[in-house]
Amino acid sequence: MKNRPIGVFDSGIGGLTVAHALREALPNESLMYLGDTAHLPYGDKSDDAIRSFSLRITKFLLEKGAKAIVIACNSASSHAFDAVRELVPDEIPVFNVIDPVVESLRGLEKGIVGVIGTSATIRSHMYRSKITLANPALIVSELPTPLLAHMIEEGFFTRSVSQAVISEYLNDPALDGIDHLILACTHYPLIQDQIQSHFQKEVKILNSAELVALEVKEVLEKKNLLTNSGESNYQFFVTDFTESFDKSADHFFQGRVELEEVKLWKE
Ligand code: DGL
Repeated sequence: MKNRPIGVFDSGIGGLTVAHALREALPNESLMYLGDTAHLPYGDKSDDAIRSFSLRITKFLLEKGAKAIVIACNSASSHAFDAVRELVPDEIPVFNVIDPVVESLRGLEKGIVGVIGTSATIRSHMYRSKITLANPALIVSELPTPLLAHMIEEGFFTRSVSQAVISEYLNDPALDGIDHLILACTHYPLIQDQIQSHFQKEVKILNSAELVALEVKEVLEKKNLLTNSGESNYQFFVTDFTESFDKSADHFFQGRVELEEVKLWKE
């Protein structure tokens, strides 16, 4: 069990930011990543569709021998975490990208926390309900920013057009007075610098990727599930292969990625 890979999934290649953080935190672990590019974006899908895609992908990762499941997508974490947890045998830990961020806010005395993410993530109000439960002293203000994931996926993250879109969203009155901002979409670490420079130093940006990786490390350690093989292996699957995904994937993972198509929906 110890030497099996960690299974990670997302709607597309955005979750590779989480896979990258996992590789940094756990360099000896093997990873198996699945991006459901055939159904991208999840942010515009119904709750039921997101749940059913997530369950099918989880079955695939379990069949391939995953020793843990990481839902590296906020839209799927918002709508499918409970269903995935129910499907997966108890001895296999399941992680979402929301809880570690919420935990990191527990100790704050007060503050206004902004949350930006896809329409699916924001309409679930999962961040607002979990944060106010964990720390009632905090005020949470959520804003859907649906264009950002598309823009980043297209490779637009450091151009003037992307700066204009980012500024338009971040100037929304919903984010007035915030002191923390949660990047509630696994694509957004690629525009973290632009977001930080928009707010100068007044707002602390919370990026879930590193917090999730630390949580995975802690739990695997506690459950005695860390590998002892000394040999890590990475596999990257997508449900629909295109050249453009192949090109963008390297940016998200910050390393060379060989995408392999798996026909999950074409059988
Ligand atoms: N990676 C997804 C998330 O974190 C965003 C992209 C999508 O809409 O599928 O919510």
